[in-house]
Amino acid sequence: MNQRVQQLYNSSVSMEWQVFMEIFKKYGKIWGTYDGRQPMLAITDPELIKIVLVKESYSTFLNRGNFIPRGKLETSLPGAQDEKWKRIRTVLSPTFTTGKLKELGFLCIPKWPPTFLSSLLRVGLTDAEILAQATIFILAGYETVSSALSFLTYELAIHPDIQQKLQEEIDKVLPNKVGVTQRPTVCPNRFSKEVKEQINPYTYLPFGAGPRNCIGMRFALLTMKAAVASLMQHFTFQPCKETQIPLVISPKGIFRKPTKPIVLKIIHRA
Ligand code: HEM
Repeated sequence: MNQRVQQLYNSSVSMEWQVFMEIFKKYGKIWGTYDGRQPMLAITDPELIKIVLVKESYSTFLNRGNFIPRGKLETSLPGAQDEKWKRIRTVLSPTFTTGKLKELGFLCIPKWPPTFLSSLLRVGLTDAEILAQATIFILAGYETVSSALSFLTYELAIHPDIQQKLQEEIDKVLPNKVGVTQRPTVCPNRFSKEVKEQINPYTYLPFGAGPRNCIGMRFALLTMKAAVASLMQHFTFQPCKETQIPLVISPKGIFRKPTKPIVLKIIHRA
């Protein structure tokens, strides 16, 4: 990381992260705490993370502990446990495969909800279970995608060289500006194939890992790529005087969000 990026990075990490770093320095890779009366172990070793999320997931770590929705959403995928989770995950998984999403077409994301609902009706979930899945997909899919897109447009605005490179690649792959028929290949250097191969996959887990990972990952990536491609074809994002630089991340809430809303100037491309 160059110095400027490092500075930006240091000042935009959350207070929560800084607290975790302090604890890590003091106690090392594994430490314990209590969530109320429930003992909790925090693990930061990639090999142990892999054991929990993948190798021993089915035998020991399949359920989410205390962090699950209650009430009517208890029967939703994130809340369901053991055999019930397996049943629901098995019937939902085929709708989220790359093949199924491709079938719908890159530009046909609006077609997805009705196709999805009708396939749920066919696989024998009860009405209450279908309602729980539909509700959780809105909850799990909306804030995550919108906050990822907000951070992304912010990063593009403060890194105009990268934004220009992205626009050039998108213009090259999709010259007619009509629609997204082929996926752009743009990939920030940090995530390029060569660099990615050297990174331990259990150190960066935006969608989790193993059998209980994010079922909507491919759908989210596809939606976000389509949104970014179409935005980049028509607009350029720039910082303005209201833009908070560096971004200060709020210590509150489950989702990472800035203390002040992200405000950017949007210029129509000629
Ligand atoms: C940028 C967007 C998204 C991010 C960063 C994200 C992240 C995550 C993470 C970290 C988990 C927990 C994984 C684990 O425990 O290992 C998860 C689970 C889940 N996500 Fe996402 N997600 C996103 C979008 C979506 C979308 C669009 C949907 C639905 C259409 C969705 C549905 C779910 C569901 C149902 C679970 C629970 C899976 C289970 O318990 O079997 N997510 N997501």
